[in-house]
Amino acid sequence: MTTSFGSATSTVIPNDPKIRMQSFTGLKSLHSIALARNHRVFTLPFSAPSVIRAVSTPVKPETSTTEPKRSKVEIFKEQSNFIRYPLNEEILTDTPNINEAATQLIKFHGSYQQYNRDERGTRSYSFMLRTKNPGGKVPNQLYLTMDDLADQFGIGTLRLTTRQTFQLHGVLKKNLKTVMSTIIKNMGSTLGACGDLNRNVLAPAAPLMTKECLFAQETADNIAALLTPQSGFYYDVWVDGERIMTSEPPEVVKARNDNSHKTNFPDSPEPIYGAQFLPRKFKIAVTVPTDNSVDILTNDIGVVVVSDDNGEPRGFNIYVGGGMGRTHRMEATFPRLGEPLGYVPKEDILYAIKAIVATQRDHGRRDDRRYSRMKYLISSWGIEKFKTVVEQYYGKKFEPFRELPEWEFKSYLGWHEQGDGSLFCGLHVDNGRVGGKMKKTLREVIEKYNLNVRITPNQNIILCDIRSAWRRPITTVLAQAGLLHPKFVDPLNLTAMACPAFPLCPLAITEAERGIPDILKRVRSVFEKVGLKYNDSVVIRITGCPNGCARPYMAELGLVGDGPNSYQIWLGGTPNQTISKKFYGQSQSSGS
Ligand code: HEM
Ligand code: SF4
Repeated sequence: MTTSFGSATSTVIPNDPKIRMQSFTGLKSLHSIALARNHRVFTLPFSAPSVIRAVSTPVKPETSTTEPKRSKVEIFKEQSNFIRYPLNEEILTDTPNINEAATQLIKFHGSYQQYNRDERGTRSYSFMLRTKNPGGKVPNQLYLTMDDLADQFGIGTLRLTTRQTFQLHGVLKKNLKTVMSTIIKNMGSTLGACGDLNRNVLAPAAPLMTKECLFAQETADNIAALLTPQSGFYYDVWVDGERIMTSEPPEVVKARNDNSHKTNFPDSPEPIYGAQFLPRKFKIAVTVPTDNSVDILTNDIGVVVVSDDNGEPRGFNIYVGGGMGRTHRMEATFPRLGEPLGYVPKEDILYAIKAIVATQRDHGRRDDRRYSRMKYLISSWGIEKFKTVVEQYYGKKFEPFRELPEWEFKSYLGWHEQGDGSLFCGLHVDNGRVGGKMKKTLREVIEKYNLNVRITPNQNIILCDIRSAWRRPITTVLAQAGLLHPKFVDPLNLTAMACPAFPLCPLAITEAERGIPDILKRVRSVFEKVGLKYNDSVVIRITGCPNGCARPYMAELGLVGDGPNSYQIWLGGTPNQTISKKFYGQSQSSGS
């Protein structure tokens, strides 16, 4: 049986980017997010049943007799037998690298091929592996495994990323299978951490035992499970077909298999993605009111738990269309904030997410990857048309967005009560780079006390499940390794972030992680010169290119690499990351 959703056309929209895209005027901001100061202000009683109206079935993208133009990656996906070929053959050859098609496919397995850009002459290839940890949750066993792997097969450091995952750099091709299978067998996964599918789902990292926080975590887990690839390519390539999957809640399986509104490819091994997967990467974050630690508006979908007056979660507000990436000198590309789509009752969230994903899958552009993110579809259609199409896949109308309180930046650094008798301790890690003495000490503490950890969206780490009696010895050991209480760290460093950039990122135009210590020192000395106080801090984020992996367009001061030792300056973001910012100018670094 065939289905009407297999085609990767985008004929609904004209192909000329100039016609399709709004011209670039800085980050697209919202005009309609209603934010109130009070914590819970609702417009509808929760007992009201969700409004179900007759909604027509999805509009089939127009077909034409001429083949639509498709990007090269679309062809690689099509010919790959669900992301296997030629990667399965390429990883077995003696060469240190893999071919072009396999380089694209390995992203779906959670890895990027890289080479050391500091070295001249022959390229020394290696692979970066990224894990998937919904809500940043890392079980004790996985932490210890990653720590070992970094020493045995990586460059001796681990990186905590802005999407609450680990990155392990420098793995050689001949070791890939060992490293991948070790991660899989130790409660980890890298499946879908990169590539054209749903990436790691963010959620507040704090292990708070409140109903809302637990519900946000559970929702992040369920969304991640819903959108995990099903065709087995990952396990075929890395563990010879052994399926090591944890059991899924029945509601996730039910939602995935439901095809009442033509969201699925019923006979495909990938019921939601089909053979072509999504046009581009797809990012989802879940959070609770006020907690914007996840940079909710930078995601393709932002989901916010909405509770009743007794703190009982009832449903979700949904934002759509956020995204950071842009291309220098291409005005039709832009960073964009998510905008409100509507509210859904809690039992409908997986169906609403699936409907949004199916809309992007069938209508997102596949001809030019620079315009393939969902933000461009929404910008070109407008939110009302987008909502109407999503509702056809959802089978219901969205309810009005609920009013919620102002967002806050939450770092969760320092010591806090979890709410179950245990403590957690958030530690600042400069740019998420765990190495040297810090790495050794963290490992010792995590191993000795059998702690689980969480990675925050600000590249920091939280040690969880600590008994009060352990607080003093742990504080002492951590301080000896330079992991200090936040009050002893320069406030500029506490909120600053940089992407990895040189030497391994193939897209870097200039330094970010290696350049930021010097840049922060220079900002601090300028502050002193103009009489700003030590605590008058600003959020600074630096990336080595306009892709914006460390979300620079949301910071108060964003530096975006645009040439050797040269950065664009973006100003006007807010400390809680809700406001647009504008391109301000260009700055040459002194070349340190
Ligand atoms: C065309 C767009 C993009 C491309 C091709 C791209 C590619 C890459 C590559 C190659 C790396 C690995 C760098 C390394 O560790 O050596 C990376 C890192 C990363 N990217 Fe992107 N990226 C893009 C946009 C984005 C955006 C818009 C975000 C989110 C706002 C993002 C989030 C991340 C994260 C979280 C990391 C890990 C590094 C960190 O901690 O900052 N990427 N990206
Ligand atoms: S922002 Fe650019 S340089 Fe930095 S990690 Fe992302 S792709 Fe690489």
